[in-house]
Amino acid sequence: MASPMRNLLADPARYLQSFRLFLERSTEHQSMQEFVQGQLPAVLASIGNGKSTINVLSVGGGAGEMDLQILSKIRARYPGVTINNDVIEPKRVAQASNLENIKFTWHKETADEYESRMKAEKKTKKWDFIHMIQMLYYVKDIPATIRYFHSLLESQAKLLVILVSGKSGWETLWKKFGSSFPLDGLCCYVSSADLPRMLDAAGLKYQLYELPSHMDITSCFIEGDKDGELLLDFLTETLDFAKTAPPELKRQVMEELRKPGCSEIRDGKVIFNNNLGVIVIEP
Ligand SMILES: C[S@@+](CC[C@H](N)C(=O)[O-])C[C@H]1O[C@@H](n2cnc3c(N)ncnc32)[C@H](O)[C@@H]1O
Repeated sequence: MASPMRNLLADPARYLQSFRLFLERSTEHQSMQEFVQGQLPAVLASIGNGKSTINVLSVGGGAGEMDLQILSKIRARYPGVTINNDVIEPKRVAQASNLENIKFTWHKETADEYESRMKAEKKTKKWDFIHMIQMLYYVKDIPATIRYFHSLLESQAKLLVILVSGKSGWETLWKKFGSSFPLDGLCCYVSSADLPRMLDAAGLKYQLYELPSHMDITSCFIEGDKDGELLLDFLTETLDFAKTAPPELKRQVMEELRKPGCSEIRDGKVIFNNNLGVIVIEP
């Protein structure tokens, strides 16, 4: 019998709703902010040396929350320098920036479309900082995408990638059940643990950082809870997982989600390990 399960991305509105709820219930952006406060300044320390303009490229920037954090650090390091922030983002409508001296340009297209367009136009615009935060799951060919954007780095630039960590609950859940979830060619599972192999094969130099993060998934265990169902969709990348998954798969996933490989129980709450991996790639 054909599986009735569909990928969450088939319903962009529900995907967005579940992503926003994930941000609310997790320390995802807080963990990234801590990295931006603590480690990013050293990473950015020389990207703009001798430049009057700094060009930043955000790939899959979403609503731009992390862009603003990163830009404020670049501005603090290079006060008075003009910053251009280009965002490649297929889904969102542009959000205005109210940061002085920073010009936002939005490209409403995917990373692959941007690459094809630039190649067709025979353009190779270079960048001083490129970031790809939680978006490599959605490109067709991850090593090729990294190689292309790496080729756009200026000589003192950096390419920053953030993915779920290989030591997170995502890794446990997806290594075990990924082949049962409906990817529909729209996305794939990859973690920071997969990057060294790809980067080594491409001969690229990089540094890895591990960021602790967690998500409260207690509501997933309350039958019929709407938020719980949305989070479950996000965890499994499946549209209406609670209603469309075969009962045995659902039972096994729910059981796994409570286990130590995915979560710990704290004060009666189920706290999912949402650790992140940051990879900073040298030019
Ligand atoms: C999980 S969200 C992350 C958003 C943001 N970077 C953050 O961390 O808050 C993934 C983002 O990647 C975008 N995206 C999906 N496929 C993409 C592609 N092929 N190229 C560029 N961006 C893509 C989505 O529209 C979405 O905004």
